[in-house]
Amino acid sequence: MPTCEFMCHNGDIVAYRDARIHAFSAVVKYGLGVFEGLRAYWNAQQQQLYVFRLAEHLERLRFGMKVLRCDRIFEAAFLEDCLMRTLQANAIRENAHIRMIAYIDGDDELTVTGPVGLSIGVVKRPSAGTLHSGVRVAVSSWQRIADNAMPPRVKCTANYVNNRAAEITARLDGHDGVLMLGSDGKLSEAAGACVFLVRRGELVTPDASSDILESITRDTVIQTARAVHGLVVHERRVDRSELLAADEAFWCGSGQEVVPIVAVDRIAVGNGQPGPITRRIQEHYFRLVRGEIEDHPEWRTPVWPAA
Ligand SMILES: Cc1ncc(COP(=O)(O)O)c(C=O)c1O
Repeated sequence: MPTCEFMCHNGDIVAYRDARIHAFSAVVKYGLGVFEGLRAYWNAQQQQLYVFRLAEHLERLRFGMKVLRCDRIFEAAFLEDCLMRTLQANAIRENAHIRMIAYIDGDDELTVTGPVGLSIGVVKRPSAGTLHSGVRVAVSSWQRIADNAMPPRVKCTANYVNNRAAEITARLDGHDGVLMLGSDGKLSEAAGACVFLVRRGELVTPDASSDILESITRDTVIQTARAVHGLVVHERRVDRSELLAADEAFWCGSGQEVVPIVAVDRIAVGNGQPGPITRRIQEHYFRLVRGEIEDHPEWRTPVWPAA
């Protein structure tokens, strides 16, 4: 069972096996779902579990529901309550990954707008080993979907056909992951993460019009790079060849966290080792999400009553 014992299904806590939809639900037929992947971090000293940047994830989910023209858009307070009850029902007291999906559940034609379903699950999930070693990636021959076709800004389940095609091809070719280029040939993003380069001590990342998901972790990195690390950050178009010119590179996402990219198309990035700026950003990120530093308390939502 990939997910924990209990899920929240349309507002009710149910056993994992009972979170069901019909085979002809619109989300199955047409991919009419939007989802979020969030992380919760256990702080052993404080005996507290923190969901990281919950408000921003809920806002993005609600935005996606609006774009899908769902006939009911769940209130943020309802979504938060469902998520908290899911974590509590599963007695989560360790690092975990939360998945929430809102979807059109009606069995009808393409223009169906409801009823709207909501399912939330959680899985206990430590960080990946690649946090330390870094990942060796390929640039995909699959082009990133474009905003005027299937907007990557919307975290729609159907979009992930594109990400999966790129990721699975790269893995079969022996890489750890993939980077995609947009229709203009410029760097877009990874299959489940946004990308940063370090060039001459400054950060560079594809801008919001580069057919990326407007990643919450990307925003965290940009804000903390400027405020905490005193780094200049450029959000702009990024050429493919800049990946090879970079001194360091990393990708970031709620699920992926902050992972060094050490090779692109089997060419070393910098000296082929995780770089010092990447390490600084990584280290600060983990202290921040666990609540080991006090910055941005509004980014950490506690799950359990204060000890
Ligand atoms: C395609 C894509 N890009 C970027 C990200 C990172 O986004 P976030 O930092 O909001 O999790 C994700 C993960 O959700 C993703 O699926």
